[in-house]
Order: sequence, then structure tokens, then C-alpha cells
Amino acid sequence: MKSESKYKLVIGDVNETLPAIAKDRFFDLIIADPPFGISFSKSSHEYGADDYHLYNDDFTPDSYYEFSKKWVQNSYNALNPNGSLYIISGWTNLQYILNALETTDFHTLNHAIWHFSWGVYTKRRFVTSHYHILLLVKNRKKYQFVKQKHYDEDVFFWKEYNRGNDPHRIKGHPCQLPIVLLEKLILTSSSAGDLVGDVFSGSGGTILAARRTGRDVIGFELREEYKKIIEEKALFGKSLIKEFQNTTLDKFLDK
Ligand SMILES: C[S@@+](CC[C@H](N)C(=O)[O-])C[C@H]1O[C@@H](n2cnc3c(N)ncnc32)[C@H](O)[C@@H]1O
Repeated sequence: MKSESKYKLVIGDVNETLPAIAKDRFFDLIIADPPFGISFSKSSHEYGADDYHLYNDDFTPDSYYEFSKKWVQNSYNALNPNGSLYIISGWTNLQYILNALETTDFHTLNHAIWHFSWGVYTKRRFVTSHYHILLLVKNRKKYQFVKQKHYDEDVFFWKEYNRGNDPHRIKGHPCQLPIVLLEKLILTSSSAGDLVGDVFSGSGGTILAARRTGRDVIGFELREEYKKIIEEKALFGKSLIKEFQNTTLDKFLDK
């Protein structure tokens, strides 16, 4: 029986709210799916965001680097000494995140790829069908890592369950990660009862995944308008028992 998780959503700039929250309790795991730092337009569809108008990040390369340095350092400070951080990123601004990581004491354990077959058709270049997933730890000698299968490779792929067809996808947010991916990260790098941080909540997928796996979770999101979506998706105020009974995900998780 999975234990009931405690959960909370904090609206505001994570660079202000995370340090304040971490004063009370350190996080065991932080998952970060930061803003892409690109302005979607009809000609920039490499991520396949049809509803691009919902989501426009206003960054220059310099400001994206400065922003990345801040949240990466704040995440470092908010983690317990054996904690881990996953960063999920497309390729466009990955260089600034990697450079920002160089300014911290994080150790990189993996640079994994999530391959999805949901890219937008392109004529004159290869179809983008992957995200980068970095696994970082504070202490290279002591951290949590529970393999999800015997030979757990650093390329993740779920044939039947992919970007865009997540049964938990809801209307109103353009960049939703599938719960199966978030559950894999949480199950690998934390234990039941641990505290997970979801520093760029978006639609609240990580909050839902943490609740489903019995972790406590605090989500951080800048935009007030996503609060309702997050609360709906993460089943705030509703019993999770029903959710477990209706789940269609378990068969996709490699055990
Ligand atoms: C790529 S989306 C995350 C999507 C999420 N993983 C999901 O599955 O729904 C990034 C989110 O970060 C939020 N964001 C951007 N800047 C932020 C900041 N300074 N503090 C907190 N959230 C921020 C955006 O509003 C957006 O919802």
C-alpha cells in the first residue's frame, strides 16, 4: 500500500520562493523542467508545441545563463547532502544550463536521453524527437539510486506511452511531460516519504507522479494562471485511492 503524500504548491519566482521554503526542510530530490528560453512562433516548431501562444519565454542568451545559474545554485542549496537533481531540457539552450552547472559543486552522473516519437514533421532537417535528462548529485559517494530494471540504459523510450498521448495530459499547458517518465526519475532517486521539489511545475506532472509514488512534494510555479490546472492534474484535495485503481500506467513502468 503506497502511503499518502503531503503536497503543496507555491506560486512565485522559484529563485525567491525555493530558498525560503528550504529553510524548513531540505529536499531529497529536485526535478527541474525549466522554461525553454525560446519564443515559439509558427516557424519554430521543433518542440511540436501547437499551442505555442500559451507559452512565450522572454530570455536573451545572457539572461538565460544568468537565470540558469541562479536556479541551479538555489537547487543545490535546497537539497540535502545526499540529494539529487534531474534537469530535463531540449537542445536549444542546453549549453547555458551546462555552463551554469560548471559554476556549482554538482557532480554529473548521467546525461541521458528521453526519445519520443512525437516530433513534428520536417523537410530539411531531422525531426526532433528527444529531450536531454541530466542526473546530478551533491555527493558522488552517497546518493540514492534504485535501478528500475537490470540493465537500465541512459536512453529512455516508451513505445506505447509517449509525448502527447499521456493519459494524464490536460488542457491548458503546452509542455507536459508524461507521468511515466517522471515516475521513473522519482522511483530511481528517492524513497517513499522523501521530499521531492518540482521547481518549474507547469501543469503539475511531477506533483502527481510524487503523490502516486508516496513522496511528499512541493511544486513551484511562476504563473498564477496555471494554479487551477496544477491542482486539477495533481488531484489536490481528492483521494488517491481511486486514482491508483484507475491507473493505466503501471504496465508501462519497467519493474
Ligand atoms: C517547461 S514548463 C514545465 C512543464 C512541466 N514539466 C509539466 O510536465 O507540465 C516550465 C514552467 O516553468 C514556469 N516558470 C518559468 N519561470 C519560472 C520561475 N522563475 N519560477 C517558477 N516557475 C517558472 C513556466 O511558467 C512553466 O510553466
